[in-house]
Amino acid sequence: MIQPTKICVLISGNGSNLQAIIDAVAAGRIYGKVVNVISSKPDAYGLERAKTAGIDATVLDHRQYESREAYDAALSEAIDACGAECIILAGFMRILTPDFVTRYTGKLLNIHPSLLPKYKGLNTHNRALENKDTEHGVSVHFVTPELDGGPVIIQSKVPVFENDSASDLAERVREQELSIYPLVIKWFCEGRLSMQNNKAVLDHETIPSTGYAND
Ligand code: GAR
Repeated sequence: MIQPTKICVLISGNGSNLQAIIDAVAAGRIYGKVVNVISSKPDAYGLERAKTAGIDATVLDHRQYESREAYDAALSEAIDACGAECIILAGFMRILTPDFVTRYTGKLLNIHPSLLPKYKGLNTHNRALENKDTEHGVSVHFVTPELDGGPVIIQSKVPVFENDSASDLAERVREQELSIYPLVIKWFCEGRLSMQNNKAVLDHETIPSTGYAND
């Protein structure tokens, strides 16, 4: 019998995406096992969530490393020690070195709160409001060395209303995040999703650059 896929989740904060993954695994929707949660911040609330779920957690405080390379080396060590086959960035607020990304290419997924390629980087909700966008959303993508630039797997759109604040938008986007990220991880753990020639492939079909089920 095939073993559940070993998942390592990297966080820096609240961990609501982590919780959605934990819940989906517990409900049998993801055939996987969260083997470790790694936080770049010692006070991340996501660490409490891991503890409550009985999952091993590791703190790698970014302030204790003198370079990005040293940090990413420690990160690789922790990932390899737990035997992870799938590395999930869930609000992990660090830029990763190209060497790190290359080492885990095809196994490294990220969720980003914008309709990529729009608004790579930070403050995505404010930028959507400043530009008077009428729609906004979230993308799940494979990670490549280009920041927020890897092939998109799925996007979910939300409307932007006239008097929205950035936190209204964040909340609306969050609701979508909590359903699409577990879905993508389910596909990955079932061996249906991969990255080939810098494109996302699901069930042997190349996913368009705007992601699966764009509407
Ligand atoms: C999520 O909204 C995620 O999209 C975003 O951080 C939040 C983490 O929330 N990620 C990024 O901005 C990555 N560039 P969570 O800790 O509650 O899951």
